[in-house]
Amino acid sequence: MAPSSSPPHGIEVARTRDEVRAFRLKLSREGQTLGLVPTMGALHEGHLSLIRLAAREADVVAASLFVNPTQFAAHEDFGSYPRRESEDIDMLAAAGCRLVYCPRLTEIYPSGDSTRVRVGALSEDLEGAIRPHFFEGVASVVTRLFAHLGPDLAVFGEKDYQQLLVIRTLTRDLGFPIRIIGGPTRREPDGLAMSSRNAYLGAAERKQAGALPAALEQACKRLADGEPINAVCEKAGSRLLAAGFSSVDYIEARHAETLSPLGTGSAPYGVPGRILAAARLGTTRLIDNLPFQRS
Ligand code: PAF
Repeated sequence: MAPSSSPPHGIEVARTRDEVRAFRLKLSREGQTLGLVPTMGALHEGHLSLIRLAAREADVVAASLFVNPTQFAAHEDFGSYPRRESEDIDMLAAAGCRLVYCPRLTEIYPSGDSTRVRVGALSEDLEGAIRPHFFEGVASVVTRLFAHLGPDLAVFGEKDYQQLLVIRTLTRDLGFPIRIIGGPTRREPDGLAMSSRNAYLGAAERKQAGALPAALEQACKRLADGEPINAVCEKAGSRLLAAGFSSVDYIEARHAETLSPLGTGSAPYGVPGRILAAARLGTTRLIDNLPFQRS
């Protein structure tokens, strides 16, 4: 079955797994590779940079637009998450994407569905400790997208760094022959990481939000200079509260590849580190991360 619609700008819109499988089969017959960029829509330049990265690595790029209910807790923003399908499709077409998969809920979670994918310890720490449902929801939807589209590679933003590692782990553990690529975080002029949820910030909060990347950048310099991890993270948290953040869920310096703790003293020499943070400005929760290394 051919994808359901092909607007004049060349992008095909598929709403069922049969449609995306037909698209994938045709590419395979033509010997073309497929790169996938999964998204929840409300696209911004950060997403488009992932599409461009996928286009450099694969012959054809597909994106998905699906606000995945299983990764939201009942008290979270599933109902109010921004949905702008036709604007998103135009942006994807302009960025060179050839297929957009906008599945109905029952294509992803058929009636009676009871299968969930859970990646062990990595899912329980940091984001997973604060949002216990989150990574199971992400792993469950990404596994389905991989099964439906069968991409050769998939690109995920480093902005959601722990999510990227969870997806690398599930891809390895389930044996998907898919190369997982991390795309660098795109930032606003004041350093704020681009995110669909930045739209929730009021004008005053938006000004305060730049304190998050600034605090992380300063913390990375101090960690690279060998200042004790505990003191650096505590100081970064105090800086956020002083800048108007209402609370800090975590600021942690971890091993960049495993997210295992690096202790409380100076960061070890030559080990790739990542500082990760989540903090709240009013009702908006922001996350960010940066690399560091002591050499
Ligand atoms: O990062 C996101 O936008 C989502 O968590 C993802 C990977 C598309 C799964 O719904």
